[in-house]
This record gives sequence, structure tokens and C-alpha cells, in this order.
Amino acid sequence: MPAPSATPDRPALVVAIDGPSGSGKSTVARSVARRLGLRYVDTGAMYRALTWWALSRGVDLTDSAAVAGLARELPLTLGTDPDDPHVLVDGVEVGDAIRLPEISAVVSAVATNLGVREELVRRQREVAAGGGVVVEGRDITTVVAPGADVRVLLTASEEARLARRALEVHGSDDADAVEATRDHVVRRDALDSTVATFTEAADGVAVVDSSHLTLEETVEAVLALVPMDVEAR
Ligand code: DC
Repeated sequence: MPAPSATPDRPALVVAIDGPSGSGKSTVARSVARRLGLRYVDTGAMYRALTWWALSRGVDLTDSAAVAGLARELPLTLGTDPDDPHVLVDGVEVGDAIRLPEISAVVSAVATNLGVREELVRRQREVAAGGGVVVEGRDITTVVAPGADVRVLLTASEEARLARRALEVHGSDDADAVEATRDHVVRRDALDSTVATFTEAADGVAVVDSSHLTLEETVEAVLALVPMDVEAR
């Protein structure tokens, strides 16, 4: 049964994609959204945007009550066009700033704040309830949209994830670049997994292992999980 907001151009389909950093889920989720004509929501960008805002206002990230309070006030506009996923905080475009290493290094402190999660999950559920969207993150298949039509855990071996992140951050996946990336990726995933389970698939969640797949093959593997009747509606 399509969600109330379904229209002929925007099906109610909801695709939930979780995975650790370096699994390629942002790129895959964007491609899947494009291919299915759906909106795209990067929930990691929400935690990053809040981190950026807290830092720019001089709020101590270890002050959990203050940061949770900021989450409730966060004036965030998240573009949902997969070809232009812009992020505005209080009217300021922060799409590039929130990917900087300074933010990546501390975002887990914000993402593990339970008051923050309560507020951001509430906002994410509202978007998912509108349907016609691919939502990606760490707890989408389990907490944000457990009733999604398609639920995928995108995994990749640690080796493959480190190589991808090294290429992204250092422009190379040689041994030095991989080593420089290791601590960062492994430590962040360990911290993040204290509040969301994204290393094992929950019941009914399909696993796509992208370790030995190209981007296109990974996208096809996710698309193959979309039920035909849902794809057509
Ligand atoms: O996917 P990313 O690296 O942009 O995520 C940024 C941070 O937010 C990272 O610490 C994981 C966390 N996160 C989360 O806890 N839950 C989500 N649904 C998405 C991201």
C-alpha cells in the first residue's frame, strides 16, 4: 500500500542502507536514488552538520546536555536531490566543511550523544515517513526505518574499506596512506558501534558485501533487492 504522499512521479518506496565508514554507502545510496528517481538523505551529514554548528558556536562537545539542546534547535536544511545533496545550517552551505578531517575526528562524540540521537532520529523518521527516499546511515534499517521496503547492510572487508578511505582522504591507497587512515577509521567505527549496530545485519536485512565489487556492481546488487511491484508503483 503506497504511503499517502505517493504520486505517479514519486513512488512511496523507502530504501534503507546502513554500513560502516568506507563501505561506499554514500556513493551507492546516491546512485540507487538516482536510478529509482527517489530522494536521498545522508543521515551522517546531519550528525556532521550539528558537530560543525556546535564547534562554530564554541560549545564543548563533551557537554552532552548543551549539545543535545543544540540538536533540538539545529536550523538544518538537507537537500534531497541525489545530484545536489547540499547541506545548509542557518542558511550557510556547509557541505564541504562538514567533511573536513577536523569534523570527522570529533563527530563520534556528537553521534554517541543519546539526546542528539533522539532528536535527529525523530527528524529522519519524518523524512522516511514521506516515502520515495533512500536513507543511509548506521541505524536506518533497525531504528529509523525498520519497516522500509528494502533494507540493506552494505559491508566490505576492513582492507577494502581502508583502501577506499585512504584514496578519498590521501589520494592514494599505498601502504603509508592505508596506515595513516587505519587508526581513524577503526577507532571511529568502534566508537560508533557503541550506539548503533551496523556490523551485523538484523533480521530481514540483506547483506551486500562490496569488497570485490565495483561501484556499478554494488548498485546493481542493491537494485536487485527492490521488489518488482514496488519498483513499478
Ligand atoms: O557516515 P558518516 O561518516 O558521514 O557519519 C558521520 C558520523 O555520524 C559517524 O560518527 C557515524 C555517525 N552516524 C550515526 O551514528 N548514525 C547514522 N545514522 C549516521 C551516522
